[in-house]
Amino acid sequence: ANVSEDATSSPPPGTSKRTPHSIIIGVRKGGTRALLEMLDIHPEVAAAATEVHFFDWDENYAKGLEWYRDLMPYSYPHQITIEKTPGYFTSPLAPERICAMNSSIKLLLILRDPAERVISDYTQVYFNRLENHKPVQAIENLLVRSGSLNIRYKAIQRSLYDVHMRNWLKHFPLEQIHIVDGDALIHDPLPELQKVERFLNLAPRIVSSNFYFNQTKGFYCIRSDGRERCLHESKGRPHPSVNNTVLQQLRSYLQEHNQHFFRMVKRTFSWQ
Ligand code: A3P
Repeated sequence: ANVSEDATSSPPPGTSKRTPHSIIIGVRKGGTRALLEMLDIHPEVAAAATEVHFFDWDENYAKGLEWYRDLMPYSYPHQITIEKTPGYFTSPLAPERICAMNSSIKLLLILRDPAERVISDYTQVYFNRLENHKPVQAIENLLVRSGSLNIRYKAIQRSLYDVHMRNWLKHFPLEQIHIVDGDALIHDPLPELQKVERFLNLAPRIVSSNFYFNQTKGFYCIRSDGRERCLHESKGRPHPSVNNTVLQQLRSYLQEHNQHFFRMVKRTFSWQ
């Protein structure tokens, strides 16, 4: 729930820009936009409008903390600032850089079935390439090279949650990283948001009437401040159907990583 600036765009009295109290660190295609928009329903949340890429892009990090702070929204002292940049989760340097800014910051990580995430990642790149008039490939051609799974494909690398999580746990205790179940958020957003409210010590303000299921979109949309809105059309796109044998290869490769991840975070998810 962001502070509205007036026509002259001078900040409302009593507000300031502050570095985030919490960051949604990823994962790309996990439902990061949905999570941020849904949290923004809360009156005590001020959400950054764009993906900042401060901790994962060296050229931005070099601009310094003041540059970063300036990209944050104006907020009142009783509000918390949240930004989301999905690339942080898979960035080798983001954990130590965030820790250097604030070692007690609360991190939010939204994850979904890693095989499904690979397909979602492919779909996003596919549409980006189409828009930019670049050639596109069938997903099977990226997933398989000479008969075996192409584990160097970036979309697969990003779905190795254990590999990336290990890096975060070198800098932050597990209790400081709250994992949102992205599959649960799609099917029933409220319980996941209530868990986040508790994690962030926010009063319970998000309620069931803040959501309604939009049949056309096939997803929950947001009702807040007398307005109804769905996420952008690039969120919740249909996925291509993937050859079953290839999908099985992908799933069986991910399985060991998933089990390792579950042990790391002392929790299991529906994607085994
Ligand atoms: P798909 O487009 O593959 O279905 P991100 O914002 O991190 O890029 O994640 C995008 C994903 O958010 C979408 O992936 C979609 O499944 C998921 N999502 C979760 N809740 C949603 C909602 N209410 N509306 C649209 N997409 C939602």
